Amino acid sequence: MTIVSRPTRIVSFLGGSINPPANLCTHRTPRSVKPWRAVPGTVGRAVVVGAGKMGLPLAVQFARHGWKVTAVDVNPDVVAAINEGRSHVAEEPGLAEGVAEVHAAGRLHAAADAAAAVRDADVAVLIVPVMLDDAQQPDYRYMDSAVDSISGGIHPGVTVIFETTLPVGDTRGRFAPRLEAATGLKADTDFFVAFSPERLYSGAVFANLSTYPKLVGGIGPESGRRAANFYDSVLDAEIVKMSCAEAAEFSKIADTTYRDVNIALANDFALYADRVGVDIQEVIDGANSQPYSHIHQPGIGVGGHCIPVYPHLLLSRAPDLEVVAVSRRTNDAQVGNAIKSLETRLGGLDEVPILVLGLTYRENVKELAYSRALPLIERLSFHGADVSAYDPLLSAEEIERNCATPYTWGRPAPFRAIVTQTADRLWEEIDLSLFPDLELILDGRNSLRGIDLPARVRYVGIGVQDATRRRSPDASASS
Ligand SMILES: NC(=O)c1ccc[n+]([C@@H]2O[C@H](COP(=O)([O-])OP(=O)(O)OC[C@H]3O[C@@H](n4cnc5c(N)ncnc54)[C@H](O)[C@@H]3O)[C@@H](O)[C@H]2O)c1
Repeated sequence: MTIVSRPTRIVSFLGGSINPPANLCTHRTPRSVKPWRAVPGTVGRAVVVGAGKMGLPLAVQFARHGWKVTAVDVNPDVVAAINEGRSHVAEEPGLAEGVAEVHAAGRLHAAADAAAAVRDADVAVLIVPVMLDDAQQPDYRYMDSAVDSISGGIHPGVTVIFETTLPVGDTRGRFAPRLEAATGLKADTDFFVAFSPERLYSGAVFANLSTYPKLVGGIGPESGRRAANFYDSVLDAEIVKMSCAEAAEFSKIADTTYRDVNIALANDFALYADRVGVDIQEVIDGANSQPYSHIHQPGIGVGGHCIPVYPHLLLSRAPDLEVVAVSRRTNDAQVGNAIKSLETRLGGLDEVPILVLGLTYRENVKELAYSRALPLIERLSFHGADVSAYDPLLSAEEIERNCATPYTWGRPAPFRAIVTQTADRLWEEIDLSLFPDLELILDGRNSLRGIDLPARVRYVGIGVQDATRRRSPDASASS
């Protein structure tokens, strides 16, 4: 799509923007106090339980703002790395430098003993995963065990904050009583409990920390006040104190479920775009030039331990929410749609050599949880295809563990089809002369729509076809 005349006098909405400008840090040098009583301008000691992709950057952020931080993790390798001043998460920009900096300054160390760490702390932030069990119900294994592990250290005055996404009502109804039962102390009177959702995007965590408003909701007014004042002392973004923990819990689930539903709609639109012979990207760009339209990108499915999981946390409490359930099914059906498309275009899949590019749930994040590559490989193999795979973040052994033959980048091979499951920029450099038998590229993220292909190779995207991608050469590539 090209703007041919009278461009709008404000910045065009085409393409949109999700990168708000960073807030500058306005914190003065804080005063260290013991115990910390949530007085503005003061800092104390904090514990982060679960020093993973989200917990470790949080620990760095808190330490950079003057807090003495203990990162607690059950994985001894994580504890050892942090205590050597190293980040065990390789892909997060700025994290390795951040860990080295605050460790050298003596404000970050790691430990395995959560109770001992919390006994000495003013604030404990819990950020261990809550996943789904086989019946798509919340699997509380990690969180129950994290809560039990801190209970021995809970003392009067400490504030416990849950950042892991939880079903609505769990902070007040499940975890506060669990801590009360273990300690004999009263929540919101003796110690304080709040929920504040982690809403960051892997790969942009520090940028997001400086811009995304921080939602905070307590199980009572004093819990909310203390948690909000804690975040005010460590974040440069706006702090939004909500009426209760449930409102904050629901906001996180609403935001992420909205995105799942939105993507499901984009996937439906993509199917229809194929039927009527138009390019879905051009349609979305056009629609989104109306400021109230925010259609997301279609794709081969939604992975990771956030967006495909949280709608189920909602459905576990409200199974009657039909739009949510249908959207989940729509997004999960995208792998099947892709396989049907391959089967039709290749005349069957039996013994067909196929290369899957990208096994992690998205590019540049080493996370396989709920990655759509896993059912993709499983279903292709079920139909008899001979599946190879490549991912720059995974070793050959890790690829084998996910039931595909590891492909060595740059080697000739007899693949008849390539399926991209991530939008890694590396795919744009692929040398197609290595694959003389190649007939088809199924571009699961529409990220290769602009590449030149030999005449023998057909392109199929999600709502983008060979014919439509050529018809709109100016259309921006989707992410
Ligand atoms: N990764 C994301 O993109 C993202 C984005 C927004 C929110 N979140 C939220 O953050 C949560 C954590 O995500 P993550 O990506 O940091 O997970 P992760 O798997 O990278 O890290 C979790 C860490 O917790 C540790 N752990 C598990 N059980 C523990 C216990 N009982 N005590 C101490 N440590 C324990 C693990 O060893 C691991 O290091 C998610 O469940 C989600 O609610 C994640």
